Amino acid sequence: MPKKKWNKMNLKDSLKFHMPLGRKHLLLFSAVIASAFGLSQALATVGIIADPVIGLNDPIMGSKHDFTGLNERAGVNAMAGVAFSDYGNPCVYCHLPPEEADTDSELLGGIAGWNRFAPAADQYTPYTSPSLDAPLRTPSSISLLCLSCHDGTMAMDMVLFTPGSFRSEDDAAMHMRMNSAKDLDSCGTCHDGEAAHDISPKVLGTDLSDEHPISIQYGGFNWRDRDFKLPLDPAGFSNGVRLYDGNIECASCHDVHNSTNELLLTVRREILCNTCHTK
Ligand code: HEC
Ligand code: HEC
Ligand code: HEC
Ligand code: HEC
Ligand code: HEC
Repeated sequence: MPKKKWNKMNLKDSLKFHMPLGRKHLLLFSAVIASAFGLSQALATVGIIADPVIGLNDPIMGSKHDFTGLNERAGVNAMAGVAFSDYGNPCVYCHLPPEEADTDSELLGGIAGWNRFAPAADQYTPYTSPSLDAPLRTPSSISLLCLSCHDGTMAMDMVLFTPGSFRSEDDAAMHMRMNSAKDLDSCGTCHDGEAAHDISPKVLGTDLSDEHPISIQYGGFNWRDRDFKLPLDPAGFSNGVRLYDGNIECASCHDVHNSTNELLLTVRREILCNTCHTK
């Protein structure tokens, strides 16, 4: 995988960028974190830290997954502060804030390594078919991360830790779920295709039986299964399609940190399926 821009960014560059006051204290942490970036092993176990300073050049900024300044971007005054809290740090909706880097989020009811409460893993109906080789599993952490918003059951801003700079007085009036229902708990109350764009294509729900299987072992290692190609190594393919502990997950096909392809696909749609499948 090519090194991302923000991994290379140094502190001096990041200072040039205008930041709202609330984010400034985070600068303190960035030097420490920058030095930790070499240690991908540590990142995997401890969790990746949410540092908006280091992340300034990240393609996630301004993307669908940047939940700070959403009102300004959309040219409305409808969302942050009303439908969800704007924590002033775009990274904490997924990653642990720097000051909680060493916390075991799972002990607190969170998804291991991430700053989100864990949805009940047994509520999902997985894909099933008689021709599947690998045993079916409940979604693993990296896919639970995505489902914690995209299944539409939990509020989008339901994070374990808000950043130190967030003041509870700024808490939103409502905490809406990414759900197309028309009620005061759901973004669908506006995002119905009339008042605002229809959010329903982005809501997977808990029935995953019509989605591509996830959290399932990849059969292509050592050409064990000839229906599948041989990956570069257990972490995935040279084109950026990734495997997690040898499994396929949402993040195998989508990269929220890379907006190059439509729908955040890790590679172009035309070559995605044949990266893994031989037929
Ligand atoms: C919508 C959720 C989400 C948001 C918001 C988010 N990230 Fe990530 N981030 C991810 C996922 C998923 C990965 C991939 C983890 C993996 O492959 O193990 C990741 C990976 C990373 C990595 C590891 C780099 C790598 O190549 O694996 C860093 C560093 C990172 N994010 C920093 C940030 C920063 C800084 C921000 C805010 C500007 C941010 N992230 C916002 C979900 C998010
Ligand atoms: C904090 C909540 C949250 C998390 C966590 C999250 N998403 Fe999203 N995602 C959203 C929202 C909100 C949208 C935009 C919905 C809309 O515009 O209708 C979105 C949009 C998307 C889109 C469509 C992008 C486009 O260009 O239309 C994809 C694909 C996606 N997310 C995949 C993922 C994956 C994969 C993960 C896990 C690595 C993930 N998301 C984690 C909230 C989240
Ligand atoms: C009070 C009405 C209202 C509510 C509630 C609301 N939105 Fe919006 N949203 C809008 C309007 C209006 C726009 C701008 C027009 C559009 O994109 O359709 C918008 C735009 C967006 C965009 C596009 C921004 C961009 O940069 O492209 C996203 C993503 C989004 N909303 C997500 C959400 C999510 C997630 C929720 C629930 C947590 C939510 N909204 C709740 C009215 C609302
Ligand atoms: C095997 C690859 C693959 C996996 C695994 C995968 N997706 Fe997708 N996803 C796609 C493709 C391809 C599309 C484009 C739409 C289509 O053709 O179905 C898509 C579309 C989407 C969209 C946008 C739908 C729209 O019409 O705007 C969202 C949101 C999304 N996926 C989220 C997820 C989440 C969350 C997971 C894990 C539960 C996941 N995806 C797992 C390949 C994948
Ligand atoms: C990262 C590797 C990977 C990618 C990319 C991928 N798949 Fe898969 N696919 C798998 C694995 C692993 C299985 C589970 C196979 C098994 O265990 O028998 C699977 C299963 C399937 C199945 C179910 C087969 C059955 O026996 O029921 C279909 C259909 C499928 N994939 C289609 C697609 C399509 C279409 C795309 C592109 C949008 C795609 N796949 C991309 C790895 C991948």
